[in-house]
Formats: sequence, C-alpha cells, structure tokens
Amino acid sequence: VDSPTGPDSSDDYRYRVYEPGDERAILPLLQESLAWKGMTEQDWRWKHASRPGFTNEDVVTVSRDGEMVACFHGAVLPLHLGDGLEVLADFDGDFVVAPEHRRKDIPTVAVHLNSERLLDLGVALRGGFTTEALNRRFYQKRYGYVFVPSASLDFRRLLTVEALRPKATRLGARLLGGRRLPAAVGDRPLIANVSVAGLPDCWAELGSEGLVLHDGWSDGAELSVRVPYRLVAARAHTRSRLLAALVADLGRGRVRTTGVVRNRRRLAALAAALVLDAPRLWRQRASGAALEPSKARR
Ligand SMILES: CC(C)(COP(=O)(O)OP(=O)(O)OC[C@H]1O[C@@H](n2cnc3c(N)ncnc32)[C@H](O)[C@@H]1OP(=O)(O)O)[C@@H](O)C(=O)NCCC(=O)NCCS
Repeated sequence: VDSPTGPDSSDDYRYRVYEPGDERAILPLLQESLAWKGMTEQDWRWKHASRPGFTNEDVVTVSRDGEMVACFHGAVLPLHLGDGLEVLADFDGDFVVAPEHRRKDIPTVAVHLNSERLLDLGVALRGGFTTEALNRRFYQKRYGYVFVPSASLDFRRLLTVEALRPKATRLGARLLGGRRLPAAVGDRPLIANVSVAGLPDCWAELGSEGLVLHDGWSDGAELSVRVPYRLVAARAHTRSRLLAALVADLGRGRVRTTGVVRNRRRLAALAAALVLDAPRLWRQRASGAALEPSKARR
C-alpha cells in the first residue's frame, strides 16, 4: 500500500503489511532500537507470526528506496474487563522507526492503515505495553492513549515430586510434634501410594522420621489416594476454602481412596489422635512454628 494521504507521502515511504521473509529486515530494526539484542528470527516468529490468531495485517512495514526503515506490530486479543465483560482489544508493540527517519510521523500512517480493519473486527480498545515516559511523549500526544499502570502476577506450577517434599516435611514435623499422633502411628509406618493429577506418582511414608515422599509406587502400601492438583497446590487457599474444595472434590469423586475400609481401625485411631491434637496444631500454625522432623520427635 502506498501512502498518498500519509503525512510523508512526499518522501515516498511505502507502507505495506507483512510478507513472509520480512523478518530478515525487521529483526535488525528491533535489535537496534529495542531490547532485542540477542533475539533471533525464530524468536520473532514465536512472538508474532507463529502465535495463534496472527494475520499478516498485524505487522506493518515501511520502506524507502527498497530499504526497510520502520516496523509496527499488533495483536487482536480478547480482553477480560470484568465478569461477563470481554471485549476485543488490539495490543500494539514493537514499534520502531530507524533513527535517521524519526520525527516524520511515520507511525501515524502505519497505525491508521489498520484502523478500518480493527473497526470491522469489532475491536473496542487499542493500546499496548509501554513506559509512562514514552506514553506521555509519544502515544498520548499523538493518539490520546491513557496510561494505565500495570501489575504482574506470578503463577507457579508444581511439576515434580521433589517440589512437594519440603511441604511434606513441614507437614510431617507439625503432625508428629505432639505425643498423640506418634503414639497412633506406632512402630509401623503408614504407607500410602499417592497420585496427584499432573504429577508423577509417589508414595508417602508417615513414620518416626516424619512424613517422607518417595518416587514411584510402593508394593507395601496400605492405602492409595488419588487427589486433584489443586488440593496439593492450594498455598493461596484459606483453610475454609481448602476444606470446601476438599468436600466438593470428595462429592464429585475427584478424590479417590482404596484400602480405607481394610485399614479402618488404624485410620480411625489416627483420625482420633488428629482431632485431639487439633488445638496444638492450630496454635503452632498460628504462631508460624515449623519444626524439623528430628526435633519433633524429641
Ligand atoms: C517510538 C518511535 C517509533 C516514534 O517514532 P517517531 O514517530 O519518529 O517519533 P520520535 O522518534 O520523534 O519520538 C516521539 C517522542 O517520543 C520520544 N521517545 C522515543 N522513544 C522513546 C523512549 N524509548 N522512551 C521515552 N521517550 C521516547 C521522543 O524523544 C519524542 O519525544 P519529544 O517529541 O518530546 O522529543 C521511535 O522513537 C522509536 O523507534 N523509538 C525507539 C523504539 C521504541 O522505544 N519503540 C516503542 C516501543 S513500545
């Protein structure tokens, strides 16, 4: 597309949408002006051309005398604004004009090249991720964009039994920190095969050494337990939410056990010890105390 109506049509800048292979010329522009120094064409394809929903129109390039001098990227994505309120938004980014071609308002032609298409798609918001300074001096001044401070959230997913071990160790130390549970466990450790959705199988051993998780399954297990991932990863849950989740998962058959009936006497003794020990466990949790297994036995 030529830009007969653009601010710099007299300078013969040619604006067009992405064509395969353009990344060879786009990459040096990004590397020179953005934090793309070590990035490769493969990285560019991962971020843009290979992402779900990409269309060639999402990238606008500008050349002059056969040389690419600017590039602009966007992505149309659903944006969740609140319960039941989702709109299509266009996220612009990776805007670069080669230094010697700046101050000619080249981005405005590129931005408007997509305006009609975005309206046709029903895009209700347009913006991007940028710094407060760049928004004030560029996006806000030219296009009226309003700066909204952003926040980052971290998500962590447990993938190995190893990642669960510290939690199991702390739990074991707490449980065995009093007198009732060690007495109920006795000299014979309680062994249970544990299957957590999304994690490798493991077996848990509750004995005088504490609660230990081993890889794989044990042939000598008295019990087997199958639980959904959310019950073991529920760090952010309050106790009442965890209990509600446990009840719901039990009700829907997402928590499965075998061997409970066979071992009912032993399990009943353990459950009774747990109930009688609850005030101590509660106090310990409230004070944040965490004992090592060896100390717990003394
Ligand atoms: C942003 C850019 C595409 C705008 O190109 P342009 O239309 O030719 O406009 P200019 O280069 O004149 O920049 C417009 C204003 O933004 C400012 N600006 C440019 N890059 C900036 C940055 N990284 N941080 C803060 N301000 C910046 C310029 O100083 C100028 O401000 P001024 O008018 O007060 O002097 C171009 O400056 C550029 O390629 N910058 C480097 C890459 C970049 O930061 N891209 C944005 C990624 S979201």
